Amino acid sequence: MTMRAVVRGVGHYLPERVVPNAEFEAKVDTSDEWIRSRTGIERRHFAAEGQTTSDLAIRAAQAALTDAGMTVDQIDAIIVATSTPDFTFPSVATMVQAGLGSTSGFAFDVQAVCAGFVFALANANGMILSGQANRVLVIGAETFSRIMDWNDRTTCVLFGDGAGALILEAQEGNGTSADRGILSSDLNSDGRHRDLLYVDGGVSTTGTAGVLKMQGNSVFKHAVVKLAETAHKALDKAGLTSQDVDWIVPHQANLRIITATAERMQVSMDHVVVTVQDHGNTSAASIPLALSVGKARGQIKQGDLVVTEAIGGGLAWGSVVLRW
Ligand code: ACO
Repeated sequence: MTMRAVVRGVGHYLPERVVPNAEFEAKVDTSDEWIRSRTGIERRHFAAEGQTTSDLAIRAAQAALTDAGMTVDQIDAIIVATSTPDFTFPSVATMVQAGLGSTSGFAFDVQAVCAGFVFALANANGMILSGQANRVLVIGAETFSRIMDWNDRTTCVLFGDGAGALILEAQEGNGTSADRGILSSDLNSDGRHRDLLYVDGGVSTTGTAGVLKMQGNSVFKHAVVKLAETAHKALDKAGLTSQDVDWIVPHQANLRIITATAERMQVSMDHVVVTVQDHGNTSAASIPLALSVGKARGQIKQGDLVVTEAIGGGLAWGSVVLRW
C-alpha cells in the first residue's frame, strides 16, 4: 500500500467587482482589442476597498470545506500560497485558521509568486506522505490589484484578484498511476532571472509594498519552453505521457502561453481548462480557481488525470500531476 494525497474538496471565491478591458481604455493607452488578442483576457475581478487576501482565502476555504462535507476541525494544516499578504507577518494562513474558527493544527504561507500553488501542493503532498498531516487545506489567494502601477499599460491590464482552495486527504493507494491523488511533482527555480519579474519594494529595501515590474516578452519566452518541460518531467516521474492527460490546468497568465504549452505537449485545447478570459492573471490563485471552475463546469471528473503547471517571479516554475 502507498499513501496518496487525494483531493476531497475544491472551492473558490472571486470579489464582486468585475472590471472589463474597456475600463482601462480611459486610464492608459490601450484597447480591449489589444488586451484580448495579446492575452485572451476579457475581464478580471478586483477586491473591494478594505477587502484583503485573507478575506478572499477564507471564502474559498469555506467553499472547499462545503464541497468536501468537512468541518475545519478535521483539517491538520493550512498552507496559503500568496505574494500579496495582508501584513508582512503573521502569515495569511494563520489569519485563515482564525477566520475559520480553528485553534488546532498548523498554518503557514508559501511564496513562489505565480508558481506558488504548485509549490504549496507539492509541500502538502510531502507532509501527507511523511505522516505529518492527514488533511491539508491548500489555498492560493491574491490581491494583485494592490501592487499594480496604474500608469504602466504593459502590466496593469493583466492581473486580477481571487482565491481558490483544495482539500487533500491521506488515503491508501496501490502505488500505481491508476491511484487517485498526487502522483508526482517537479519544482524548479533560477534566481538569476530576478529582474524579469519583480515588485520594486519590500521590508528590507524600500520599506514599502512596491509595484510590479515585468519584462513580459522575456517571461513569455521562458514560459513557453519551461512549462512544457516541467509538465513532461512530472508526467515521466509518474510513468505517464501526454497521451494519458485528461486535463491540463495551467497557470492562467496568457492564452497564447496556454495554447503554445498545450501544442508542445501535443494535447488538444479540448483538454485544457481555460479561465483567463474571466479572471486575468490571479498569480497563485489561478490554478485552484481553474480547478474549481473546471469541476463546476463538469470538465474535471473523478478519476481524470490532471496536470497543473505554472511559472512566475523568481523565476520559479513547476508542475504537479494528480488523479482527481
Ligand atoms: N496596450 C497596448 N499596447 C501594449 C500594451 C497594452 N496594454 N502593453 C504593451 N503594449 C505594446 C508594447 O509597448 C509594445 O509596443 P512597441 O512594439 O511599440 O514597443 C507592443 O505592445 C508589444 O509588446 P510586447 O511586450 O512584445 O508584447 P507581447 O506580445 O509579449 O505581450 C504580454 C505582452 C501580454 C505581457 C506577454 O509578453 C506575456 O503574457 N508575458 C508573460 C507574462 C507571464 O506569464 N508572467 C508570469 C506570471 S506573472 C507572475 O509571476 C507575477
